[in-house]
Amino acid sequence: MAESYSIPQGYSIGLARTDEVALLPAIEEASENLFPLKDIPLELRKNSGLPLSFFEQARLAQRLWVARALDPAMPVGFGAAILLDAGAHLHQLSVLPAHGRRGLGRALVLEIARWARKEDFASLTLTTFRHLAFNGPFYASLGFEPIPVAHQGREIRAALAREAEQGLDPSTRIAMRLERARFPDSP
Ligand SMILES: CC(C)(COP(=O)(O)OP(=O)(O)OC[C@H]1O[C@@H](n2cnc3c(N)ncnc32)[C@H](O)[C@@H]1OP(=O)(O)O)[C@@H](O)C(=O)NCCC(=O)NCCS
Repeated sequence: MAESYSIPQGYSIGLARTDEVALLPAIEEASENLFPLKDIPLELRKNSGLPLSFFEQARLAQRLWVARALDPAMPVGFGAAILLDAGAHLHQLSVLPAHGRRGLGRALVLEIARWARKEDFASLTLTTFRHLAFNGPFYASLGFEPIPVAHQGREIRAALAREAEQGLDPSTRIAMRLERARFPDSP
């Protein structure tokens, strides 16, 4: 069954605007403090942020969504999609910890799934930590399922291999997929 979602009160979600892009790396950096040090060591954390050029390109491609607080008006989270194995892939999702646990992460993911429906993709994939409550179990609660190794596309396998090269323990990582039948068609 398709998930339904609502935008938490006091916030809006929409495609990123030009003036918001420069504010997003700091949101990613702040959200990374949620990860235990044993999962993302400090050294790796320092170098793991997405470059500003990634955000600019994602905005131009209309694959970058921002969660905004309304008062005072400011971006507090974002989700970025890319194409992987010719499918939709959630590349990064971040919410400022001070605005966490209010449903913004869920609303961003489902907004991106709604885009994937509109664009006619068969699924929305991602890679994440299998054991952290706000990663694997959070996505499972939205209907994402683990992708068995034999069903992983070449580019997803390459993404997992790159993560391992960068220092993430592969036994903690998982690829997941949300099937089209579970994409919402409206908030
Ligand atoms: C993942 C992330 C974007 C979720 O954002 P969020 O706005 O807090 O998410 P939601 O409020 O929609 O939370 C949905 C559910 O996820 C789980 N969850 C989220 N944060 C959690 C936390 N810190 N501890 C335990 N469970 C958590 C809960 O089940 C929560 O529902 P509940 O609050 O009703 O219990 C945010 O935690 C974050 O930026 N994390 C760091 C970056 C990251 O992990 N990105 C995803 C990588 S694939």
